[in-house]
Amino acid sequence: MSAPTVLLHAGEAAPHWQALFAARRPSWRVVTEGQRAPDQPIDYLVGSRPPAGQLARLPRLRAVFALGAGVDALLAREDLPPSLPVVRLLDAGMADQMVEYALFGVLLWQRRLLDYALQQGRREWRQQPPRLRAEVRVGVLGLGAIGAAVAIALARLGYRVSGWSRSARHLPGIRCVDGIAALDPLLADSDVLINLLPSTPQTRGLLDRARLARLPRGALLVNAARGDQLDAEALCALLDDGVLGGALLDVFATEPLPADSPLWSHSRVVVTPHVAALTLPGPAVEQIVANIERDRSGQPMLGVVDRARAY
Ligand code: NAP
Ligand code: GLV
Repeated sequence: MSAPTVLLHAGEAAPHWQALFAARRPSWRVVTEGQRAPDQPIDYLVGSRPPAGQLARLPRLRAVFALGAGVDALLAREDLPPSLPVVRLLDAGMADQMVEYALFGVLLWQRRLLDYALQQGRREWRQQPPRLRAEVRVGVLGLGAIGAAVAIALARLGYRVSGWSRSARHLPGIRCVDGIAALDPLLADSDVLINLLPSTPQTRGLLDRARLARLPRGALLVNAARGDQLDAEALCALLDDGVLGGALLDVFATEPLPADSPLWSHSRVVVTPHVAALTLPGPAVEQIVANIERDRSGQPMLGVVDRARAY
């Protein structure tokens, strides 16, 4: 079997990605758009945002590999052939990063760091009562490759963790619930709510005003999934009214977050620029190479998106 040709869309980092592919499979042709010969047949495409129309113009394409866990951008494309396999990254070093990010959010609430930052601004020296880990209720939305790792890590640290998924899950130390009827009770029982759901027709707009208002008074929201799942205006209003205590936001409906967004300057919001769990080229290339080899030897690839579920 001849070596496959892979078209790579990795922006300025492309040389680094190509070196990683070359180190593992020197015989493969891994080309960028600029290096591709006219009409060179492409077997696999690697990249979450290829140029518009390209996916429909590669007749030999066997799969497209997203450079992340979320595939909402790829699935939204009009040029995506209906039966082309879309493959996402499964953890690939992102879960550990997300554990750290989620823990930072939990500590913001548990150790009252937003309150103390506000006190600092007023030069106010006032100690507030401690919150013990076993009393801190954490709700994790999404118990997949990343959400499950976050829930388990926080439970191991001694937090009281509940998790929500579509189908029933069983995870050590976690109170797992599933289905839409279980969502409101979980919200009411979450001092810190961590959103790690994929963006799908079912989850877009899920965190609306009514659902956010079900969180206990003073609760903190961590959104590290997608911005289109959250009503940011409602969040700001609930923060202003003192219903919610804070938010740690990594993802936004429009990215980069527009300069005039009130989120930038809200004293109870911490903004990060979509960095909660960055794609690590080494583990990503490892997974993509393994999947291409599985495909070429007739085995099913791992992490193929179920197009009907949209994740
Ligand atoms: P995943 O493995 O596909 O897991 C998705 C989880 O969400 C599963 O537990 C699934 O339930 C649950 N779910 C999906 N739809 C649901 C619904 N309608 N109701 C209830 N539960 C639902 O995804 P992942 O790899 O953990 O990644 C999750 C998301 O994190 C990605 O899609 C991406 O948007 C985001 N992300 C963000 C960053 C960042 O830096 N901010 C980095 C990586 C990922 P089942 O278990 O029943 O299938
Ligand atoms: C990042 O947001 C990802 O989906 O990997």
